Amino acid sequence: MKKSHQHQIKSFNLTPKGVISTPEGAARKYSAIEDISLGLSSIPLALIGLFRAAEIKEEKWIMEVTNNYITIKAQIVGKPKESDFEIKALHLALSVEPGSNDIVVKNLYVSIDPYQINRMKISCSSHNATRASAPLTPGEVIEAYGVGRVVASGNPEFEKDDLVVGLLIWGEYSVLKGEYTLRKLDPMGFPLSYHIGILGTSGLTAYGGFFEVCKPKKGEKVFVSAASGSVGNLVGQYAKLVGCHVVGSAGSKEKVYFPDGIDIYFDNVGAEMLEAAVANMNVFGRVAACGVIAEYTDAGKRVAPDMLNVVYKRIKIQGILVVDYMNIYADFVSATVDHLRAGNIQGIEDVSVGLQSIPLAFIGLFRGDNIGKKIVKIADD
Ligand SMILES: NC(=O)c1ccc[n+]([C@@H]2O[C@H](COP(=O)([O-])OP(=O)(O)OC[C@H]3O[C@@H](n4cnc5c(N)ncnc54)[C@H](OP(=O)(O)O)[C@@H]3O)[C@@H](O)[C@H]2O)c1
Repeated sequence: MKKSHQHQIKSFNLTPKGVISTPEGAARKYSAIEDISLGLSSIPLALIGLFRAAEIKEEKWIMEVTNNYITIKAQIVGKPKESDFEIKALHLALSVEPGSNDIVVKNLYVSIDPYQINRMKISCSSHNATRASAPLTPGEVIEAYGVGRVVASGNPEFEKDDLVVGLLIWGEYSVLKGEYTLRKLDPMGFPLSYHIGILGTSGLTAYGGFFEVCKPKKGEKVFVSAASGSVGNLVGQYAKLVGCHVVGSAGSKEKVYFPDGIDIYFDNVGAEMLEAAVANMNVFGRVAACGVIAEYTDAGKRVAPDMLNVVYKRIKIQGILVVDYMNIYADFVSATVDHLRAGNIQGIEDVSVGLQSIPLAFIGLFRGDNIGKKIVKIADD
């Protein structure tokens, strides 16, 4: 009798109709693999073959997802509106090219930051300053600091399921290729969201700008603008720990008058607030120019402080950028963790849930909706 042996690999695509939900909510594609011999007489050989492990010639297991992400429809002029944004989707295989350095991260929390509006403009003086301030292209992903979990990695320093923090995107998954900013995260017993707020870039900005530039001394008078915001509330808390007298402005665009004068101004808003603060500074006052949010959406608000004041009072005004404080990152984390554990300071957060809430969360920054660090939770850990 003629013997016939035939291998067949049948693929049953279970998406989109028969979607199987996985812990990651991913749609899986299964390949069902069969090995068929023909004829009754082939049974003994088939049985023997089982013990030679020769039957499964190939096994494929591919997991694919739809990666939803937020993008801008066009460059933004003035204040951002919900209609400036849209959700787009890309098909994404949760795997990396063998031998590549690529990483796929499932995003858990992403940061919502005022500076991102400057990247969304058609032109802005900050565009050429750093890679992180380069202009965004409508339709493409928007980078944001965030916390996530590694899904696939070609980089030997990262393994599947590692918790990570770094530059991700406003999306469900981040695909990191080439040079990326990412490190493994040890939560140290704190909520994951803290690592993009009080223990993340907001905290480092406040800590670096306040201690390195403002060099506070006990008893000095500190003024902070946008004081209920992410960076501002931390500057206020650090200043109190040093024993400074702290005054903050929040929700008010009115000018501020200091009868006793200001030694340190931590400027988050620019515009007329900067002008007013400098006019009320003491000799040898220090200004940390952290941000000018009032000018981000209205360049007409730009003002110059009275430079005669600056000269005669020998006021130092210095711009700060968080990237310059990576050298003190370890000191910052250790000091802040100690203060948190001792109950001397607290993390103040304003968390929205779901990718779709990102546009409103972002718009809210320019309306003063947030109290503390604005964060969007994308997924449960
Ligand atoms: N240099 C750096 O490396 C660095 C890093 C992080 C942040 N920043 C800058 O620091 C500032 C604060 O950032 P953040 O992340 O902590 O944001 P945030 O303070 O949490 O949120 C922005 C706040 O700014 C206030 N604001 C909005 N529009 C304003 C306007 N036209 N005039 C006055 N106040 C206005 C609002 O608070 P109220 O109206 O309630 O006061 C709003 O809640 C921003 O300028 C940001 O760009 C700089």
